Amino acid sequence: MKIRLLPDKTVNQIAAGEVVERPASVVKELLENSIDAGAREININVIDAGREYICVTDDGCGIPYDEMELALQRHATSKLPENNLNNIRLLGFRGEALPSIASVSKLNLISRTSISDQAWKLSIIGGNKEGFSPAAHNIGTTIEVKDLFFATPARLKFLKTLRTEQKHVVDVVKRIAMASPITTIKLMADGRQILNLPGIKENNDRSILSRIDKIFGSDFGSNCLKIDAKREDVSLTGFAGLPTLHKTNSSYQHLFVNGRSVRDKLLFSCVRVAYRDFLANDRFPLVALFLDVPPDIVDVNVHPAKAEVRFSDTGVIRGLIISALKHALSIAGHRASTSSSIAALGATNPYVLPNLPLHGRQTNSHSANYHEIQRSINNSLSSDRLELYQPSAKNEENTAKDTGYDSASLGDFPLGAARTQIHETYIVAQTEDGIIIVDQHAAHERLVYEEIKSDIEKKTVNRQCLLLPEIVNLEEWQVEKLCEQSDELKTAGLLIEPFGKSSVIVREIP
Ligand SMILES: Nc1ncnc2c1ncn2[C@@H]1O[C@H](COP(=O)(O)OP(=O)(O)O)[C@@H](O)[C@H]1O
Ligand SMILES: [Mg+2]
Repeated sequence: MKIRLLPDKTVNQIAAGEVVERPASVVKELLENSIDAGAREININVIDAGREYICVTDDGCGIPYDEMELALQRHATSKLPENNLNNIRLLGFRGEALPSIASVSKLNLISRTSISDQAWKLSIIGGNKEGFSPAAHNIGTTIEVKDLFFATPARLKFLKTLRTEQKHVVDVVKRIAMASPITTIKLMADGRQILNLPGIKENNDRSILSRIDKIFGSDFGSNCLKIDAKREDVSLTGFAGLPTLHKTNSSYQHLFVNGRSVRDKLLFSCVRVAYRDFLANDRFPLVALFLDVPPDIVDVNVHPAKAEVRFSDTGVIRGLIISALKHALSIAGHRASTSSSIAALGATNPYVLPNLPLHGRQTNSHSANYHEIQRSINNSLSSDRLELYQPSAKNEENTAKDTGYDSASLGDFPLGAARTQIHETYIVAQTEDGIIIVDQHAAHERLVYEEIKSDIEKKTVNRQCLLLPEIVNLEEWQVEKLCEQSDELKTAGLLIEPFGKSSVIVREIP
């Protein structure tokens, strides 16, 4: 077959394959257009999770009647004033969304600007113009999308259940609403109101947090830390949840670059690293973080749905996010410490526990018993942290004579007084108005980890030479990776050398 240019309709359908993955993608594109148009109130209506019907109405600037047809053509945009891709300030710029959506659905565009005394309605079916006539509408725009993917039925087969698709829609609306707090956004699904997010009237932390709380649907507002940091021309603001508030996935991690919601691997990994010392690997903190960078150091044109970005200097971004979060978390240490076993254990008062079996799991050498842990904590504490633990030590003397406890003293210990031990593993402590459970095995691991960490910082890690070096068999690539890091491992007390292609020999350990 001869080479030929594809017709516009086919080109648009190809583009739609990337831009419009599912109904939620349509909602995202339409909502972003409304925000770019300066809307203060946006109403979204979906039926059958958007598969049957999506309607987005805004009170934005509207589209002039003589530009409506152009808006539906590929690469037609009003958002790149100097055709400069290095200076993108609005959410749109590719001019692809409307023609893509129109090519795979039945679309009505109704719009009116402030200088026009009437609205116009343009109808497109599967990319073909069907009608253009006067209509009734306030200043602003309504876009209706019916029978999505009717023109490309193969795509319909890839859609998930109604529930899943609806969750994607709600998620997209929430993410965009987070970055546009002044805009009132309402979402109806099958005649039921799902979201009602009034725009904030005052631009202060309280109003913003109350909006975030409505979006997260949790008590994030009273369990978060304010983040406000700057490095070079880049600033990071927003809120980071205490480590005690966590989820099983990253859907409560809202990250924005210049007001654009992104699901970017680099940014997610920064959050993970910052919380690494406070949260288990499989738990995710809640965050709403806004990165503001000069437009010329970020490339948003790397993903058709603009979900990812590239930074020209990732070091600055990584450094800023990780240090700002870590700093906030360490300052909030004791608020955050409810999830940190070591602090929990150290801050409890164990010696009000007369006659309780306090043996650790004998089979496991790491499961030191409770007294041993307590002793090693007290021994290993640096002087500035002793204050937190001192009461426990002091109480040791008292309880030797007196096994009762004074309930008034509960308040003296940030994490209460130990009351019992369960399964020879969990220590249950009582605070003034709650209980705290500490896994002493995890606490001990944490203790060893903290010790090694502080030794690494002080460069005083003691290594012990193994009488019989240990050979560990691994995959070839794993050996390579490990050996690349051998200097770093040495500072952590681990001396390894390659041993053939698929094993390493461990000579010294911490
Ligand atoms: N809700 C809206 N209000 C005002 N103008 C709009 C709206 N939606 C789309 N437009 C106009 O249509 C153009 C094309 O939209 P779109 O295809 O989404 O591309 P982009 O947003 O990348 O410019 C926009 O540049 C804008 O001028
Ligand atoms: Mg757009």
